[in-house]
Amino acid sequence: MISADRIPNNVDLSGNKRLLRALEHWQPAYLDWWREMGPPGFQDSHQVYLRTAVSVDAAGWAHFDYVRLPEYRWGIFLAEPMHDRRIGFGDFKGLPVWQEVPGEFRNQLRRLIVIQGDTEPASVEQQRSLGAHCPSLYDLRNLFQVNVEEGRHLWAMVYLLHSYFGRDGRDEAEALLERRSGNDDTPRMLEAFNEPIDTWLDFFAFTMFTDRDGKSQLLSLSESSLDPLARTTRFMLTEEAHHMFVGESGLARILERTCQLLRESGYSGDVRRAGGIDLPLIQKFVNFWFSQSLDLHGSEVSSNAATYFANGLKGRAEEDKFEDDHVLAANMYMLDMLDDSGRIIRQEVPMRNALNEVLRDWYVGDCQAGVDRWNKRVLEAHGMSERIALPSRKFNRRVGVYAGKHFDPYGNRLTPEEWERKKYEWLPSAEDKQYLHSIQVDPVYKPGQFANYIAPPQRGINRQPIDFEYVRTEA
Ligand SMILES: [Fe+2]
Ligand SMILES: [Fe+2]
Repeated sequence: MISADRIPNNVDLSGNKRLLRALEHWQPAYLDWWREMGPPGFQDSHQVYLRTAVSVDAAGWAHFDYVRLPEYRWGIFLAEPMHDRRIGFGDFKGLPVWQEVPGEFRNQLRRLIVIQGDTEPASVEQQRSLGAHCPSLYDLRNLFQVNVEEGRHLWAMVYLLHSYFGRDGRDEAEALLERRSGNDDTPRMLEAFNEPIDTWLDFFAFTMFTDRDGKSQLLSLSESSLDPLARTTRFMLTEEAHHMFVGESGLARILERTCQLLRESGYSGDVRRAGGIDLPLIQKFVNFWFSQSLDLHGSEVSSNAATYFANGLKGRAEEDKFEDDHVLAANMYMLDMLDDSGRIIRQEVPMRNALNEVLRDWYVGDCQAGVDRWNKRVLEAHGMSERIALPSRKFNRRVGVYAGKHFDPYGNRLTPEEWERKKYEWLPSAEDKQYLHSIQVDPVYKPGQFANYIAPPQRGINRQPIDFEYVRTEA
């Protein structure tokens, strides 16, 4: 029997023999996966200053200490239960939430949990080469914090699979450790989670935009009628916030450094010649990861989304902020669609079928707020006239109405030939990637030092100084 006290939890693990038995098989497989697919070269002889969740209250989830990565205490936490919680939307609105999985929704719920679960280990796999090229110990530590928390998010989904889905839940939990990001035969389930994240600009854009899709999805799952799913995802959101902080502040620091280099060169020089990252290149990574993350929200018109909502499985983000009846039986939504000749037309569709687009609306607004902060606090503060902008929702899509059609970042239709000719004005090219690899060749492992292309953060982690030894090498 594995020891429950090595696994921080608030689900009475030591009293839950069934769950302990299931974890007994899964936990060693998880550790094997972590050693194989977690950060190479940082498994045994490095101590990382990490936050470990040891309970759900504010003091408990901000416990900091040095830890070797494979010895991180991945725990199982659910947000505190809400007294007399009722279903907040869909056909069962007003009835008590479920503590067990209703048989008729079992497959749909399992699928939602597996899809969410699959993204968690995927991103650890995508990011595994970055440690060898980090811009500072501070950033290295943040990378590992994100990695171990994605590992914990996998644990969270596996807890649900083991506890509520019996035999097939256990099979799915094993399969989550068998797929591999980018693998031809056994890829991860969603496209954006098969793209390599091998430059730090990718990493910051991914944590800004793709982890924010995680926030969209977790917000909508935290409305679920299945109370354990709602409580699990509600706690995951506290960790997700840090991931987006890493992305937003990381890109802000690159922008900051770019502005400094521009100023030093009298605003006329080529930033790349000074070893920095030029604004057009940053914009390309915004375009790429934002459009990938739009795809993660699914098709504009979706019968699955309608069913999930009707059955109370997946709500809208911040459902109680909507001023309608939360049932949406007869509401309509205006959508940009394409007609047979490829022209854009406004079309009215039943709101329930448009809920992917409603969630995408929320997501775009949340991204825009972050982009506005970069523009105001960095570019405007430096007196620059350039701005970072989100591309049109039509740009570079592979899912939904615009998939396979071509648009520029302003939403203008292009012919396939025009697209082929121009796409690398808007998306990272092989040369762009090569340049980024060239400036991150040498990792920066000295406390307080930063690579030339990124400014130091304003403050350290957990009130530690910026030159704190966030990652320590053991002799
Ligand atoms: Fe996650
Ligand atoms: Fe995340």
